[in-house]
Amino acid sequence: MSKEKKNISLLYNGDQVDLGLKEPSIGPDVVDIKNLNSATGLYTYDPSYRSTASCESHVTYVDGKAGVLSYRGYPIEQLAQESTYLEVAYLLYNEELPTTDQLDAFRLRVKQNMVLEESVIKLFAAFPESAHPMSMLITSMASLSSIYHNKVDIKDPQGREEFFFQVLGKMPMLAATILNHTNKKAVGSYDESLNYSANILNLFFGGNPSYEINPVFSKALDLLLILHADHEQNCSTSSVRLTGSSGTNPYAAMSAGAAALWGPLHGGANEAVVKMFDQIDSKERIKHFIEKAKDKNDPFKLMGFGHGVYKNYDPRAAIIRESCHQVLDELGGKNNSKFELALALEKIALNDKYFIDRNLYPNVDFYSGIIYQALGLPKEMFTVMFALARIVGWATHWCEMMANPNLRIGRPRQLYLGPKPRSYIPLDQR
Ligand code: SDX
Repeated sequence: MSKEKKNISLLYNGDQVDLGLKEPSIGPDVVDIKNLNSATGLYTYDPSYRSTASCESHVTYVDGKAGVLSYRGYPIEQLAQESTYLEVAYLLYNEELPTTDQLDAFRLRVKQNMVLEESVIKLFAAFPESAHPMSMLITSMASLSSIYHNKVDIKDPQGREEFFFQVLGKMPMLAATILNHTNKKAVGSYDESLNYSANILNLFFGGNPSYEINPVFSKALDLLLILHADHEQNCSTSSVRLTGSSGTNPYAAMSAGAAALWGPLHGGANEAVVKMFDQIDSKERIKHFIEKAKDKNDPFKLMGFGHGVYKNYDPRAAIIRESCHQVLDELGGKNNSKFELALALEKIALNDKYFIDRNLYPNVDFYSGIIYQALGLPKEMFTVMFALARIVGWATHWCEMMANPNLRIGRPRQLYLGPKPRSYIPLDQR
């Protein structure tokens, strides 16, 4: 629990209202206003929650000003360099880095859950050919609540842990089934000799007997999964928490998270970025699109730029940009026009007053699509890849929230600006 220290007050109508200050382990103090309404009848107004801490959490820390991200205290740069996605998943869930035996047991438990029920697989036959992969993810994730409803006791820590491993194992199977529904290919099989990310590629493309896993590609995929695993109370994780706070089925809560992630302002940005590169098409047209992005009357935004929290370079974007070089070198080093365009776009934007004044930098979505495309994925699958990583963050935050004995259903209030009370007018008098 955070430490309480009282030294902030509100003066309202001549009365002094003492508010608690909660002291975090790192970062700015947090004003505790949970009793403000009962004490004063007042609400606070923060429509996009930019000044609002919705919960206490021990999982991930983001300092937007400094461009800092850490999982359970470990800097993202070190985890990107030294760790693996499954080890990061263990860390996020268990709070500590695993021993070899602990990691082996964790890997085995995830693998034991890498199965999809026939009823879920049959669902895919109902999707139109043109179905967007995220629409299939949201639907198929929610459909798991039809199988695991009364079988998951969310009030019991063991029940929540069972769900955690179930959803971690099913997510790659859903992603592979979605991809191969789109590609009309068979899903590959799990190969004991492969690591987690190589197995993801094998599930995705292993249905083609001639497919060979390139270790540079599986390493790049593992890096992307690490970087996208969690990001504190972002839109999709907050959706999982708010939905889950009603006590709903956890698969339903995860599908709410996937629904939020799909938006182009959030996880859907990785697909939108590559579509933007296609639209810009050449370095000569960059300036024209930068002006469009700056024009308030033009709906065009520089996708992959800006962030709700980072007012500095997103540390994940810098790491992904470096990984692009390695992946593209592996493809014979031929110039990747999209990557060249991205680098040129970043350079021009970061020297433009509009972007500098607004602290707009590349975010995690700016370069990731270049790697996903190099791995052979269609752009519509990019946000599914984001969800494939973020499932561990969503499930960990859901478990953290459900373990809170004082959990209450989330219920924000509003600033009401509608009509004042008035009397009904019978139809024949209107
Ligand atoms: C993710 O929250 C998370 O942690 C998310 C995430 C995670 O890991 O979960 O990091 C993943 O969602 C990354 C963000 C991906 N989205 C995009 O790349 C979409 C493009 N970016 C923008 O739509 C925007 O930057 C947001 C949505 C990301 C942030 O929106 P905000 O917080 O409302 O933007 P802001 O208030 O910081 O904007 C300040 C100014 C505004 O102009 P003014 O009114 O001051 O004149 O900057 C402008 C904005 O119009 N602006 C942009 C811009 N982003 C902000 N102008 C042009 N292009 C942009 N991309």
